[in-house]
Amino acid sequence: MILGLSAGFHDAGATLVNNDGDILFAGHAERYSGIKNDANLNAALLEDACSYGVPTSVAWYENHWRKRTRQIYSGEWRKALDFSTTPQALCSKHNLRAPITSYGHHRCHAAAGFQTSPFERCKVLVVDAIGEWDTVSVWDAWYDDDGYAQYKKIWSQRYPHSIGLYYSAVTHYVGLKPMEDEYILMGMAAYGKGYLTAYEENLKLWSDDRNIKLVDNLHTGIDEEWFSGTGLNEYDIAAGAQKVVEKLLIQLVQRWCGYDENLVFMGGVALNCVANSQMRFYCNDLWIMPNPGDCGSSLGAAALQYGKKLNWQGPYLGHDMGNEYPIDELLGELQTNKIVGVATGRAEFGPRALGTRSLLADPRGNDIKDKVNEIKRRQKFRPFAPMVLEEHASRYFDMHREINPYMQGTYKCLAPELFPAIVHADNTSRVQTVGRNDHPGVRELLEKWYVLTDCPILLNTSLNIKGEPMVNNRADADRFEQRYGIKVCS
Ligand SMILES: [Fe+2]
Repeated sequence: MILGLSAGFHDAGATLVNNDGDILFAGHAERYSGIKNDANLNAALLEDACSYGVPTSVAWYENHWRKRTRQIYSGEWRKALDFSTTPQALCSKHNLRAPITSYGHHRCHAAAGFQTSPFERCKVLVVDAIGEWDTVSVWDAWYDDDGYAQYKKIWSQRYPHSIGLYYSAVTHYVGLKPMEDEYILMGMAAYGKGYLTAYEENLKLWSDDRNIKLVDNLHTGIDEEWFSGTGLNEYDIAAGAQKVVEKLLIQLVQRWCGYDENLVFMGGVALNCVANSQMRFYCNDLWIMPNPGDCGSSLGAAALQYGKKLNWQGPYLGHDMGNEYPIDELLGELQTNKIVGVATGRAEFGPRALGTRSLLADPRGNDIKDKVNEIKRRQKFRPFAPMVLEEHASRYFDMHREINPYMQGTYKCLAPELFPAIVHADNTSRVQTVGRNDHPGVRELLEKWYVLTDCPILLNTSLNIKGEPMVNNRADADRFEQRYGIKVCS
């Protein structure tokens, strides 16, 4: 029984894998502590993970000594010399006595992707902000004759040259919180005008975009004068940065992955669903594990320790509320009140609510976006995501054979006037397709909703109180109900 752990950055996580390669548990620390993006492991998370089996080994998601050399280089002396954060110290603090093996940061990202993917051989692209030294790495990955995953690193770029750090620096520049609000920057990009100037001014931050080299170390931010005098506002700057990131990623795919090859894309930058949508045109097939960031590397570390392909059954791997999916109750609330919460079964592993910790709404009409926004209290320009019966997706979105069960790409909406709440300023939607092999409760809900309304779509956003992580258990759901007066079905 292998316990994979990641901690010490933001959004710590734990994954338990058994000796048959089954993923018994994978969860986020934040859901148990109530602290959004909690960097620290906690007893409740580990207790939940270990309720599925007693770990006989611990797999750690990075080489902390290598990371400390980078921290010394980048001037983070206090972190580098804080030995209370070694894997040994942290495991000891939580009474984890099993032997610990550490694996490289990008190798863990790669393994979390490849060993959950449907591929037997592929290229793996890992792009994140900052871990040990690597910030971009490209791998050949395959299984040997005995079924063991093999990884050969074929190219990499190192700190401080980093696509993730660049995007975080722009996030900070426009007044948002770096390492947290990057998804808001991505949403702002659709409102940017002055696209060409913004793109060119952003590109000037790169001295060699083919080899991912920045003109300067952006770890502490972009010079506040950088965009002054250009006439660009924060939306334009966001649009330029987004286009630059898309260009860099597409160049990497074109350089290292053939059109006929399969690609696994991992690292925090793989959460950029607008860029993902572009990348899929430059490879045969694209797989992104639904938790591609550092929390997901708890699964990657466990995968490396296990060695072979994991039995990936979907992202519902977190805390188990143990209830049947409350389909009839949800349908009643949707027809009466248009909005309802659902918290049932196992929580999603990853940042997207995919139907078991979700706020659902009837997506039709002009007023629903404002109503949901009253609850979510987020920027009005940000749309919500749709979940749609897979076989109806191409009627409403510019999708052909694509499926997008984990909300990892955006697609043009073909009927934006019917569904303004789920369409962004550029007429795209971050679609969750729900097929017959996806979550059976979510699937049946959508099927019955379609029979009742002739609409195969529901609005789906995460069930959380503003500023807090997603609801994890019934007590969280009760607090949500009390705060907002919206029923949460379990
Ligand atoms: Fe990372």
